[in-house]
Amino acid sequence: MTHGKENPIPMIGSMQPGVFLREHWQRAPLLVRGAIGDLAVMPGVADVLEIACEDAADARLVLRQGEEHQMESGPLAPARWNQLDETCWTILVQSMEVWMPQLQALRQSLGFLPFWRFDDIMVSVSSAGGGVGAHVDQYDVFLIQAAGRRRWRWGGPVGSLRPNTALRQVEGFYPTEEAVLEAGDLLYLPPGVVHEGTALDDGAMTVSVGFRAPGLSDLMSALADVAAERWQDDSEGEPRFGDAGRTPATDSNAIEAEDLAALKELMKAALDDDALFLRAVGGQVSLPRFAPEPLDQPVATDELDALFGRGGWLERWAGSRLFQCAGEENRATLCFDGVSAEVPSAFVTAVLSSDRIDAAAWRTWRSEPSAVAVVLAMVETGTYGVVETGED
Ligand code: SIN
Ligand code: CO
Repeated sequence: MTHGKENPIPMIGSMQPGVFLREHWQRAPLLVRGAIGDLAVMPGVADVLEIACEDAADARLVLRQGEEHQMESGPLAPARWNQLDETCWTILVQSMEVWMPQLQALRQSLGFLPFWRFDDIMVSVSSAGGGVGAHVDQYDVFLIQAAGRRRWRWGGPVGSLRPNTALRQVEGFYPTEEAVLEAGDLLYLPPGVVHEGTALDDGAMTVSVGFRAPGLSDLMSALADVAAERWQDDSEGEPRFGDAGRTPATDSNAIEAEDLAALKELMKAALDDDALFLRAVGGQVSLPRFAPEPLDQPVATDELDALFGRGGWLERWAGSRLFQCAGEENRATLCFDGVSAEVPSAFVTAVLSSDRIDAAAWRTWRSEPSAVAVVLAMVETGTYGVVETGED
């Protein structure tokens, strides 16, 4: 699997990205007819059903009977397809861009949005009548009709979440908009807009390019993790609450306002520590949805020397998340699949410009210890896989 740098496919029609971002992104739905003229990149129905049966696939099967939906989590047994004849069904597979790297072209077409906001590409295939019910998502999503037709209804008041449903279905649905999407049409929905799609044809396929936004609790726990790691061997140096010079307590059972204020200042100092903050945020937003397989044991520098010497190279895992954040004095932070490290900016540029680290790149950076350490770490996390000569 390769990361793939495909030709971008226009997605929002003739609309300028600036206009889209100002008027629609996170704000208002947008329907674009004939958004995608060339559907060659889209999977076939058989591809999706085959991938849904893979052990590593994040797949779900949703069966609809009237207003009721039943969900089965994958991987699904191939025999399951023969039992579905009389049913309204939808099969949903997440992270399809990892299974079919050519789909990365869809994300690249939305390059006016930063990659760190991207979540994954989900593909659904339905029989006529199939759908997952009226629900809300926390994500921005570009719903592309890749085959057949699907009737979408959206908007209106958002009812409370139905209890015990993994499908985020809501009570009551009073949509204000409706459209039948045909192959090539696109519907963008911001988070929180209640919506429902019902397939009108057997084999109706929707390809959803989803964007995620980190929540406060994930960010705070990432900060707690990096703070714990930072001071685990330095408890003497760890910033700690202090109250030298305090006045006598008026109520010994109370936590007084001044103490609360001082505790808050202590915690704010962690947010103001740019290096700590960046490590937390970079680690959190680069967590992959479909993680690469980490190595069982560390790789050594001379093993990589030998690999490149034999004509091999390192290839980026298609589901990897790599971002950079510029620092001071030609340094930058490289975030990769939940880890972040400071390295020379030129090294970051070289890494991000290709899906491969080859012998020439290795030779260039072999004498820079921070770059070598990051390459070793990226092989260990599985962000890069080893490719021997002749495997391409
Ligand atoms: C679907 O593709 O069938 C459902 C996608 C969604 O509503 O989020
Ligand atoms: Co949805």
